[in-house]
Amino acid sequence: MRLNKYLADCGVASRRACDKLIAEGAVRVNGKPATLGTDVNEAKDSVTVNGRRVTLAKKHYYLMLHKPKGYVTTVSDELGRKTVMDLVNIKARVYPVGRLDYDTEGLLLLTSDGQLSNALTRPSSEVPKTYIARVSGQLSDADINRLRNGVMIDGKQTLPAIVSVAEKDAHHTRLQITITEGRNRQIKKMLEAVGSEVEFLKRVSIGDLRLGGLSRGKYRFLTDREVQYLKSLGGIK
Ligand code: URA
Repeated sequence: MRLNKYLADCGVASRRACDKLIAEGAVRVNGKPATLGTDVNEAKDSVTVNGRRVTLAKKHYYLMLHKPKGYVTTVSDELGRKTVMDLVNIKARVYPVGRLDYDTEGLLLLTSDGQLSNALTRPSSEVPKTYIARVSGQLSDADINRLRNGVMIDGKQTLPAIVSVAEKDAHHTRLQITITEGRNRQIKKMLEAVGSEVEFLKRVSIGDLRLGGLSRGKYRFLTDREVQYLKSLGGIK
């Protein structure tokens, strides 16, 4: 590979600016000063700029999966249950970002990018996640307001949530709930706190990223724009 392209791919600068660095003698290949015509073997050669080694940025993979229920959100399961990794057929090592319960379905991100994964899942990130929950029975306006304002779960009040009733009949209520925390079994516990039992739970979006029409059990790669959006959501520049 041409040296200026290699340097640009490593994120040093534009190809033209890299030519300048080469011409100024700032670049060495295997310890020897490089010239404008130098080629590099990216697997073998050691390239330095002003004495600092540069390497090609690792390519990361980002995808969304429509997790069906009946799958655990781990890479392997000691009980031998199916895992979300059984649904993803790519060579790169990707890991689930956060988790959905065994019986929850919906939008699950997977990535090889540990920085993004940590940024989206650390408690202070407050990334909005929207769920559709079908619960038994009916909820009073007071219950809905309690869910909105915060209920006590595991000894700690939940942060304000956006809650609306999507549908209801005599036996069931379908709610749309957006929370900005990611506590263990949070939606189920919030609903338990107002006396309701979750019968069905699906995550439909993370921030503005929506599951859309992706079929259950299928995955797709995120676009560059979606990746940039998630990085901004996680506070990564
Ligand atoms: N809340 C839950 O109770 N379960 C999930 O899987 C996700 C959010």
